[in-house]
Amino acid sequence: MGLLSLITGRPGASGFGSASTAEQVTDGVDASNLTVVITGGPSGIGLETSRVFALRGAHVIIAARNTEAASEAKKSITEANQTARVDVLKLDLSSLKSVRAFAEQFNSMNLPLNILINNAGVMFCPFQLSEDGVEMQFATNHLGHFLLTNLLLDNMKATAESTGIEGRIVNLSSIAHEHTYPKVIQFDQLNDKKTYGFLVVLWNCRRS
Ligand SMILES: NC(=O)c1ccc[n+]([C@@H]2O[C@H](COP(=O)([O-])OP(=O)(O)OC[C@H]3O[C@@H](n4cnc5c(N)ncnc54)[C@H](OP(=O)(O)O)[C@@H]3O)[C@@H](O)[C@H]2O)c1
Repeated sequence: MGLLSLITGRPGASGFGSASTAEQVTDGVDASNLTVVITGGPSGIGLETSRVFALRGAHVIIAARNTEAASEAKKSITEANQTARVDVLKLDLSSLKSVRAFAEQFNSMNLPLNILINNAGVMFCPFQLSEDGVEMQFATNHLGHFLLTNLLLDNMKATAESTGIEGRIVNLSSIAHEHTYPKVIQFDQLNDKKTYGFLVVLWNCRRS
């Protein structure tokens, strides 16, 4: 989707565009045979995604670092929809230890997994290092989700095989991907405080 379509909401080939709601897109869909994990499900796009998946009958696992907010989200979803199946599990994507603990807990529940939505993300936070010593944005948005996906992949493959339903992994992104750094990711400078910041991002966009 280009910037113009994004702003105007003009539908694409699917018949949907940025102005379409999750309810419109899933109208008539029966998701009662699906289990979905949504990271960052307590708020924003993640909350709406959780709500509408639950509305369509899916078993929704909200993976959240703030389990109190996630429980509130679960309450609001189940109050509006008595048959909703929503569970909350603790996950802090900025911590590889927490990601491993989440995957261990999820896999020990013996649930199938059809859809993984890597939605949680932070943007333009002040420079800080994660507990693993990695710049926080990269640690949360990329490393955490990369490890999570790998740790859940066997379950997803087994689910697809036993049910005959193809799995889906959705990575939330941004139109900013059209303005990446021309020299591509500088892996040896990920933790460089001097080259970190909003203005640096704008400068890179201008040159790309
Ligand atoms: N909204 C937009 O216009 C837009 C545009 C481009 C891309 N996106 C992308 O779409 C996704 C959702 O956006 P949004 O606007 O819904 O964001 P949002 O309202 O800020 O919600 C982000 C969610 O991610 C969670 N999160 C942050 N760090 C986490 C961590 N370390 N571990 C687990 N969960 C964590 C937050 O939980 P806490 O409450 O604990 O912070 C929150 O629930 C993001 O990946 C974002 O980059 C959004």
